[in-house]
Amino acid sequence: MAFKIGEVYRISNRYLEIIHNKDIFSKPVSSGNGLHIIGMLNSYVSIPLYNSQCAIGVIFEQFEASKEREILFDPKNETIISKIRLIGTYNPISNKFKRGIDYFPTLDSEVLTVEEKELGAIYNSTIRPNEPSLELGNDIYFNDLKIFADPNILFGKHLAVFGNTGSGKSCTVTSILQGVYLEKNRLNNTKSKALKTIIIDSNEEYSEIFNDSDNIKPDWLLLKDFSDLELSHKDLSFYELTQLLKEESPNVIPYLKSAVKKLKKTENVDEKIYYEFSELQIEIENAVPLDNRGNRDNFTIGFLKHIIMRINHFCSDQRFNAVFNKTGNTIEDFLNSDKEQVLILSLKVANDILALFVYMISKSIFNYKTKYANREKDNILLVLEEAHRYISTDSTDQMNNYYIEKLAREGRKFGVNLMVSTQRPSEVSHTVISQCNSLIVHKITNNRDLDFIRNTIEYDDKSQIDLLTSLKQQQALVLGEAFAFSSLIKIAEAKPLPHSETPRIFKKE
Ligand SMILES: Nc1ncnc2c1ncn2[C@@H]1O[C@H](COP(=O)(O)OP(=O)(O)OP(=O)(O)O)[C@@H](O)[C@H]1O
Ligand SMILES: [Mg+2]
Repeated sequence: MAFKIGEVYRISNRYLEIIHNKDIFSKPVSSGNGLHIIGMLNSYVSIPLYNSQCAIGVIFEQFEASKEREILFDPKNETIISKIRLIGTYNPISNKFKRGIDYFPTLDSEVLTVEEKELGAIYNSTIRPNEPSLELGNDIYFNDLKIFADPNILFGKHLAVFGNTGSGKSCTVTSILQGVYLEKNRLNNTKSKALKTIIIDSNEEYSEIFNDSDNIKPDWLLLKDFSDLELSHKDLSFYELTQLLKEESPNVIPYLKSAVKKLKKTENVDEKIYYEFSELQIEIENAVPLDNRGNRDNFTIGFLKHIIMRINHFCSDQRFNAVFNKTGNTIEDFLNSDKEQVLILSLKVANDILALFVYMISKSIFNYKTKYANREKDNILLVLEEAHRYISTDSTDQMNNYYIEKLAREGRKFGVNLMVSTQRPSEVSHTVISQCNSLIVHKITNNRDLDFIRNTIEYDDKSQIDLLTSLKQQQALVLGEAFAFSSLIKIAEAKPLPHSETPRIFKKE
């Protein structure tokens, strides 16, 4: 049942203003499974037009007129005004909603709450019949209404997931991936999917998210960590090697160059040939000239100290195994496999090591997918959890963000897409964030991040950003191209959950 909430009193070509009926304003009415507060910010309204259709709008601003415009209104009798953005037209005969407004309401038109069938038509308009759609969750005001996203845009043009710690990001990433790979009833109109997913699991949360009720992992899932993944150093160019070893001195580079040539047994230092990394140190030391007494020249040894220390550091720390040892299982092996669809990389390591891993992984993906022969192969989704830790804005390392930013800018063209999850959007590479066409934003309270979202994201309805501070766990604002409308939703339950629970400090006896 629709309630009259007010009347139109001002019309401009950008929005309408309505005067609320105070008898009913902010009263709860039941809708779907839950209660809905009349006149609430971000709720929909319906305005009957003379041609028996209805203009549908969203409340985006509200104020008391007596404080704002004393001349127009009687100050003793405060008037509540809402600004309405019109989003489309509902036709009750065909029960269809279409975006855009052909006819504007007139002054004094009555403004009603939307009925469930209108809202149903609004959200159904987001599903194009026979086109793929992914169910993401339910509207938070109208609990029965499912919210869908276009998976070809969600996974085809980069997605960002933001939110405070504990707001639900990892569960959202999990819920989306489960919707794609596990739950057949959430992915509609899809015969097959050509999507390989690599998850950078920097907190070891995801390894069991695809397990069945007996906790058995599916055979299309591959789990790896730094001990049995190969991101070989052979793929580094000579320039990248100097960056990694933080070595630019013209006194040292010739030593490094001749050692690499010797170990690769070629004059071309960029050629992709594997050698034992620990031997690099031996070759560099062997090249030091002898003094009169047949000892290695101390002066030369002195300026080679730094590079030798760096090589030692990489060889002695087993967390670098993936890069410097031949451990087998390359990213290419996974991408070429017919059986495996998802690769979870458990990489619980310090930020600088993670940054190196992500550099190598994104470079492998870039090189693989830009090869002509691989262009037509499955799309690749790279999930970057806790992205602020390794693709940060203040990365001083020249190498770090290079390939990730390349994938963010150009990946869409050759079928590589990013899902970037972070609690600190303002600290993640702006190049990456600004390329995300769709956003799922959980509760955010930090002003810097709120301002960043407001300023970086190109959406017309920035007023919704103000709602972010009051969202509950699992609730989110969805914005951008993958969604027909920006709306507040409760994300579908993640099951099994990722291992992301907050540890309890005090337990009950
Ligand atoms: N979609 C969901 N399904 C089920 N439970 C959820 C969902 N979203 C949030 N939760 C609940 O909220 C808790 C915290 O969510 P989650 O770990 O995803 O937060 P987070 O934003 O990733 O936090 P952090 O930044 O610390 O990693 C979960 O342990 C779970 O209990
Ligand atoms: Mg998390």
